[in-house]
Amino acid sequence: MFSTKDFRGRDFITLLDYTREEIEFILDFSAELKEKFKSGRPHKYLEDKTLFMIFYNSSLRTRNSFEAGMTQMGGHAHFLDPNKIYMPVLEGEEVAYSTERISDVARVLDRMGHGMAIRIYGDPVGWVNGKANRIVREFAHWAERVPIINMECDIYHPCQGMADILTVKEHCGGFKGKKFVMSWAYSPSVHKPLSVPHSAVIAAATVGCDVVLAHPKGLELDDDVIAATRKRAEESGGSFEITNSMEEAFKDADVVYPKAWTSKHFIPPIADAPMMEKTQELFDANKDWICDAAKMKLAKPDAKYMHCLPCDRGFEVTDEVIDGPNSVVFDEAENRLHVQKAIMALTMDV
Ligand code: CP
Repeated sequence: MFSTKDFRGRDFITLLDYTREEIEFILDFSAELKEKFKSGRPHKYLEDKTLFMIFYNSSLRTRNSFEAGMTQMGGHAHFLDPNKIYMPVLEGEEVAYSTERISDVARVLDRMGHGMAIRIYGDPVGWVNGKANRIVREFAHWAERVPIINMECDIYHPCQGMADILTVKEHCGGFKGKKFVMSWAYSPSVHKPLSVPHSAVIAAATVGCDVVLAHPKGLELDDDVIAATRKRAEESGGSFEITNSMEEAFKDADVVYPKAWTSKHFIPPIADAPMMEKTQELFDANKDWICDAAKMKLAKPDAKYMHCLPCDRGFEVTDEVIDGPNSVVFDEAENRLHVQKAIMALTMDV
């Protein structure tokens, strides 16, 4: 058995660093914090503590849930725009008096607060797949005292994955025997990382769902993530299947989670340089991958529609579905607050 002390100071970069038991412990603690928040009971677990948040990309949900969460627990979340400090970069990428090596940034902030959180993917790393994850890990390497929380890199979005499975637990009553469908869906934007589907399938497989991944050919997830998801499904007694048919995937689903992600085949390191126009062609050939009322009819009558948001209405999903009775997207967004409070309270109590 483990206790809250076992989480202290641990980085939260990928759910693969956490066992099923630890993830379920965090879910239970999230539910407890949610109940305390809703009933107005105090839960100031991080009084006078500071989280430094570095956002290389935009955010509505992540920034506000971390900030509100720290306030509610008696601490403070400090927002840092990389363009308004000295842009934290890897060794060898420095520009005099414009950037600062991550090893220095991390060691400075490590002395001043109790946690650091980073969001980075896509344009800030030139769409070099995996580089953003390396940057998050570089912060973790140099921050010796405090945990690093991944607020979404190019490979993982672990806080989103936790919110997703808390939402499944609340709406489906558990995980065993629940068909959880992560599906690609069309978007006019090809600038979306693979982190959300990666963390969603890992999270759902870890807790024992029957996970189905659906996407057109050419939009495969990372091979290591697929292998890790298979292993987690075997360990949990769940299952993991992949199909190239959205309709087949939706059949008798308990949960559907259709969203766009870019093609790993047209970005480095597989491609020599980002080839977004090729990705656009691939996307445009699959405009029928939309979550509409007809597709929802294939799933169970009470199937839940999920999306991490922001979504592309009219492309990934129709208004009828996202605003309909099966949609749980706002519960899912709210759960970002509760799971992140649990993660911060457990890891930042340093
Ligand atoms: N789902 C999510 O991470 O939302 P934001 O990009 O608004 O933070």
